[in-house]
Amino acid sequence: MNRVTQLFNIKYPIIQGGMIWNSGYKLASAVSNSGGLGLIGAGSMYPNVLREHIQKCKKATDKPFGVNVPMLYPNVEEIIQIIIEEGVKIVFTSAGNPKTWTSHLKANGITVVHVVSSSKFALKAQEAGVDAVVVEGFEAGGHNGREETTTLTLVPMVREQVTIPLIAAGGIATGKGMLAVMVLGADGVQMGSRFAASFESSAHMNFKNTILETKEGGTQLTLKELAPVRLIKNKFYNDLQELYAQGPTVEELKELLGRARAKRGMFEGDLVEGELEIGQIAGLIHEILPVNVIIEEIITEFNGAASQSKDFFF
Ligand SMILES: Cc1cc2nc3c(=O)[nH]c(=O)nc-3n(C[C@H](O)[C@H](O)[C@H](O)COP(=O)(O)O)c2cc1C
Repeated sequence: MNRVTQLFNIKYPIIQGGMIWNSGYKLASAVSNSGGLGLIGAGSMYPNVLREHIQKCKKATDKPFGVNVPMLYPNVEEIIQIIIEEGVKIVFTSAGNPKTWTSHLKANGITVVHVVSSSKFALKAQEAGVDAVVVEGFEAGGHNGREETTTLTLVPMVREQVTIPLIAAGGIATGKGMLAVMVLGADGVQMGSRFAASFESSAHMNFKNTILETKEGGTQLTLKELAPVRLIKNKFYNDLQELYAQGPTVEELKELLGRARAKRGMFEGDLVEGELEIGQIAGLIHEILPVNVIIEEIITEFNGAASQSKDFFF
C-alpha cells in the first residue's frame, strides 16, 4: 500500500492516462480490472458519448475508474455535469486552471487530480485543493508544457515543493522506469504511450503499428504557439515544419491544423495527413499487448529491479 493505491483504492500505483481517441471504456476497464486505475478520455467525446462510455465502464468493471477532462476542449461544463450525474468518483483534469472545477467536483464527493508540467502549477493545484498531481515531463505523448522540463528533473523538483501525492508521467513504460521515478519521489505513475499500443486501446491499428515503428528521435514537440503537442514526424508534421520556415502567424498555423486532425490520424488511421500523438518512450515499445500482460510485466520488472537495487551500494 502507498499513498496512491490508498487514494484510489487500487492494487498497483499505475494510472492509464486519459488519451483522446485511445482511451474509451474498453481500455479504462481493462486497466482497472488488472489492478491499475483506468481513465476514460473525455477530450475526444461528445457529452452523450461520454455518458455511454461511463455506463459501459461501470458494467465492465467493479473496480474504481475515472474520467480525464482536458479543459481546453469545449463542453467542459456539460461533461462535468454528466460525470456527477453518473456517479464517477475520480476525475483527472488537465490543460487548464485547477481552480476552475476542483471545489465543485470535491463538493460532489469526487477525488480530483490535476496534471501539471511545472512546480509553479503543482503548487497552484495543491492550493486549489486537489488530492494529487500528475507531474508530466517533456518526454510525454500528447499536449505538454512549453518549458520542456524533463520527467527526470521535474519529479524531484515538484517533490521538494508539494506535500500531496505525486504521480509521475512522461517517458515511463516499464517497471524499471516506474522504479526510477519512485526513487525520485513519485508515489505512482501515469502511462499513456504504453497503453496506446495495447489490444484494448480504441486507436486504429495503423496508428498502433506506427507506435512500434517509431524510433528514438521519431517524435517532436511542436505547435507551441497553439497548444504544444508531441507528434510523430509524418507528412503532416513535415508540412508544419515547412510552414514554420516561413515564420507563420498563429492564424496560419490554425488553418493548417484545421479540424479533426487527431481523429483522422489516431482513430481513422490516416498516417499521412493525420495528427499522431505519442511520447518519446515509443522507441521502447515493441509489441501491442493486452493490458493485463502489460501490467503484469511492469510489476514483475519493478519488483525484480527493486530487489536488485541492493547491489547498487558503493
Ligand atoms: C495519444 C495520446 C493522447 C493523449 N491525450 C490526452 C488527453 O486527452 N488528456 C490528457 O490529460 N493527457 C493526454 N495525453 C497524455 C497522457 O495522459 C499521459 O500523461 C502521457 O501519455 C504520459 O507520457 P507517456 O506517453 O510517455 O507515457 C495523451 C497522450 C497520448 C500518447
